Amino acid sequence: MKNKQWNKYTTGAVKSSFAKVLLCMSNLFLYIEKALESSSLDETIEMTRKAFALSQDVSQWVEPEGRIVKPIQYVKFPDKLVCIPPRELPRRRLGTEAGRRSFIHAIAHIEFNAIKLALDIAYRFKGLPKQFYDDWIFVANDECKHFEMLCAHLKNYDCQYGDNPSHDGLWSMAVKTEEDLIARLSLVPRYLEARGLDVTPAMLEKLYAQKDNATAAILEVILEDEVSHVEYGTKWLDYVCKQENIEREGAFFENIEHYLKGQVLGPFNRPLRLRAGFSESELSELEKRDKRR
Ligand SMILES: [Fe+2]
Ligand SMILES: [Fe+2]
Repeated sequence: MKNKQWNKYTTGAVKSSFAKVLLCMSNLFLYIEKALESSSLDETIEMTRKAFALSQDVSQWVEPEGRIVKPIQYVKFPDKLVCIPPRELPRRRLGTEAGRRSFIHAIAHIEFNAIKLALDIAYRFKGLPKQFYDDWIFVANDECKHFEMLCAHLKNYDCQYGDNPSHDGLWSMAVKTEEDLIARLSLVPRYLEARGLDVTPAMLEKLYAQKDNATAAILEVILEDEVSHVEYGTKWLDYVCKQENIEREGAFFENIEHYLKGQVLGPFNRPLRLRAGFSESELSELEKRDKRR
């Protein structure tokens, strides 16, 4: 039977605070909510940046008492975006211009989803330390940077984000883990984002082999930032498990099993995952469960 550990983080316990600080924090969560509920790319980015600036500005704050969190169905994506099942997406061959364009578009899609994912974890789970919210708003701001770099690069291919079909594989995991912080941390930063650490070095090799140094330079920046995003996943999974007095590795694999149902995909990049806080025993266990072995 799967544990249901989220209740503690949805009670929103607040002790006291100054009115000004409360106002700032109300604005902070309003910005996050607006970014989540916007179907405009520009507004999503603008609101994320405002939330980030505020989180950097206010050194002492507490979460507003009685903060209302709306169901995840309120989160919106651009209307123009066409989502199809991952297996129906056309194959991307980096050797052609069309292949490179759809490759860059696909990464831009991952990064746009990553903005919403980082905002959603900050928005949805209540009653956590200030640093929890600061960390995930920091990540959302990084994801905006990644998305904008890729959109600027797509212009060189006469393409805009939304021109190609995409898949909703990333966001569907956020929906499934809407009410469970341990599941969210296990599956989103520590599985889906961590897959980026596994697959990006091979992509970089291919790009350098094709002499596509411009795309490679963007992916180098993204890869380095993503190590810290996965590390935040480890840090907060550790924190929540300690609070709940449960063992991190057991909780992680319980959720991996429950949500992925034996579909764990490797191989895994040990050095980068170690930097992101995975233990040797977690990596060995992941390797044992790798469906492709
Ligand atoms: Fe990213
Ligand atoms: Fe990320």
